[in-house]
Amino acid sequence: MKSNINIIRQPIPKRSKEEINSLVIDLMTKMTLKEKIGQMYQTGHEGTEVTGPQFDASKTVKNVKDGIVGSIIGLLNNEVIYSLQKTAVEESRLGIPLMFCNDIIHGCKTAFPHNLAMSSSFNPDVVYDCASVSAYESSHSGVNVVFSPMLDIVRDPRWGRVVESNGEDPYLSSVLAKAYVEGYQGDLTSYDKVAACVKHYVGYGATLAGREYNTVDFSRRQLFQYYLKPFEAGINADVKMVMTSFNVFEDVPVTANKYLLRDVLRDKLGFEGVVISDYTSSMEIMNHKIAKNAKEVAKKCVIAGLDHEMIYTSYIDHLEELVLNKEVDEKLIDEACYRVLYLKYELGLFDNPYKNIYFNQEDYWLTDESKTKALNAAIESCVLLKNDNKALPLNETEKIAFIGPMVKTQEVVGPWGGKADFHDCISLAMALDQEQHSYLYAEGSKIHENNQELIDEAILTAKQADKIVLALGEHQHMSGEANARADIRIPEAQVKLLDEISKLGKPIVLLLFTGRPLDLTNIVNKVDSILNVWFLGTMSGHAIEKLIYGKENPNGKLTMSFPYTVGQVPVFYNTLNTGRPYDGVTFYTSHYLDIPNHPLYPFGYGLSYSNFEYSNLTIENKVVKKDDIIKVSVDVFNNSNVAGKEIVELYIEAQSFSVARPVLEFKDFKKIHFDAYEKKTIEFELDSNALSYYNIDMIDTVEEGLYNIFVGPSSNKLLKDVIEYKL
Ligand code: NOJ
Repeated sequence: MKSNINIIRQPIPKRSKEEINSLVIDLMTKMTLKEKIGQMYQTGHEGTEVTGPQFDASKTVKNVKDGIVGSIIGLLNNEVIYSLQKTAVEESRLGIPLMFCNDIIHGCKTAFPHNLAMSSSFNPDVVYDCASVSAYESSHSGVNVVFSPMLDIVRDPRWGRVVESNGEDPYLSSVLAKAYVEGYQGDLTSYDKVAACVKHYVGYGATLAGREYNTVDFSRRQLFQYYLKPFEAGINADVKMVMTSFNVFEDVPVTANKYLLRDVLRDKLGFEGVVISDYTSSMEIMNHKIAKNAKEVAKKCVIAGLDHEMIYTSYIDHLEELVLNKEVDEKLIDEACYRVLYLKYELGLFDNPYKNIYFNQEDYWLTDESKTKALNAAIESCVLLKNDNKALPLNETEKIAFIGPMVKTQEVVGPWGGKADFHDCISLAMALDQEQHSYLYAEGSKIHENNQELIDEAILTAKQADKIVLALGEHQHMSGEANARADIRIPEAQVKLLDEISKLGKPIVLLLFTGRPLDLTNIVNKVDSILNVWFLGTMSGHAIEKLIYGKENPNGKLTMSFPYTVGQVPVFYNTLNTGRPYDGVTFYTSHYLDIPNHPLYPFGYGLSYSNFEYSNLTIENKVVKKDDIIKVSVDVFNNSNVAGKEIVELYIEAQSFSVARPVLEFKDFKKIHFDAYEKKTIEFELDSNALSYYNIDMIDTVEEGLYNIFVGPSSNKLLKDVIEYKL
């Protein structure tokens, strides 16, 4: 019946800030205090995924009629969205439209690789494509705002949510933050775009011991120098929403942290949009023991600067009374309500509340164009970690046995695949069949269990082959929210399979399916090649098939270190030198007795079928001052007969400063295509202001002195020169 309704999509007028401002102010003069508070409430409905305490969906329709709901979380069904919106527009007193928000994180219906995987592409265009396809699919599925990008700096792979992040580096994460926000938002009056929400503000990635929802503890310098940087980039790209994180900062939960929400976010970073809580994170300040009841929750959060409360009802239950009792200034309600309404105007919801509702929403999903972009993203996300004896690429003349639980699985969406259905994903076996490869197959093991029969069958199969490709790893739901692991090795059952197969002495290629860096200590020496294939989404199988058969050349690099073993965690490239750096011999220096200090595979590391050689690092101007451009160049030669792309990385190190700085700081990169045997001079123009750091007085500045400049293929393989910065 609904499908007969014809929604007319007139162009939405592009209004100036002043125009929207007066429209909102005009509307607010008509609103009661209760209605204004209503705009500060986000609830769910039947169909909303519950990622925390339950909420009462039976009240949603009544609350919408009463005009006390601002937005709805987690719906993708256009019939339901239409009906709720109609109720808001036609049955509430002022007809203010609802805003529909959703967790679209790395794709909506077309699943892109998970975010950590995509960051390995070091390619903002890949991320932009993911965001624009997600915006297209979700804006045709009733969604107005997506809860993405996640911009947490992560250093602990035990934390399941590293899968949603851009890895350990603030500069790369900032570049990608901009690409995400621009890809989602663009021109918000367009019918193909959605507003973005950066999260989790802030420091959530520092969760102690990698345990989900745990405490964090870091300095203000770390906050400004690392954790805030990507948020700053998102805000500069005009992101419309910021989500507060579950953690504390300086022992105050972020959702009730006035310093972070007002002094830093509003005053320092200049954010003017909507601040939303995470799912019941307002309520959780009672567990943090800084509020005794819901009334105190409402009071503390609104004073701190929280505009929009997700799921919990402290605002709609208590703010009116708090204002009437003069415990909360009504001005705070006006400001928060204003911001929510302003966004609704920007999105064009007052012009057309049904703008994103399409009853044939499926027609916009999984288009050829979206799938092409997802395939490209999948190819660029894979990282070749090891390739001894050139075990990869595979040769058509070799007899290959594909073994392992991941060969046939279509469950490669990853933990936050938006609303993607894994049945739409191409498994490795499906791609091999479509490309008409002849190959041997055995399952060998389940993800967590194994038995002798499966192993025997796998050995029999492997014996007939020249080379074995093992497809092993985590299940897609072993990372993501609430999926922390203390043991980050490949599940034991699969390691047993690998051990048995390796006894045959045949070349082994490992395809690693994972949402996080894994501890590979127990297996790395038993295989010739490792291609990290993460969870690549809808086009997974095609991407892997192309890479392992050499139709494409791996060109991703790690954005988060793979620890040597879990005991080393957290291990990351931009570490401080310490007072007693290890020199390889001296005992009373910073080291382990049993393992090296450096990770197994560091930030920026990744191999290729090409062989890139670096030489001739040259800096044109070796003495620089403020605002100068440092001109750096390096020769890169593809000494191989295979064309490929190379990520050329630039780092710096301050030789002296008023506070200790990392041994390396990533500052720039270029991803360049090389033909076989092609040599190119790669040029960087580094702004001298990029040498800055928060100094002893907490001023972000460049101090006089010498700075090392490094360029190379990985954070552990760099050419070095030095420049002088003069005031
Ligand atoms: C909790 C998660 O932390 C957040 O990332 C997500 O957007 C919300 N739930 C809403 O589902």
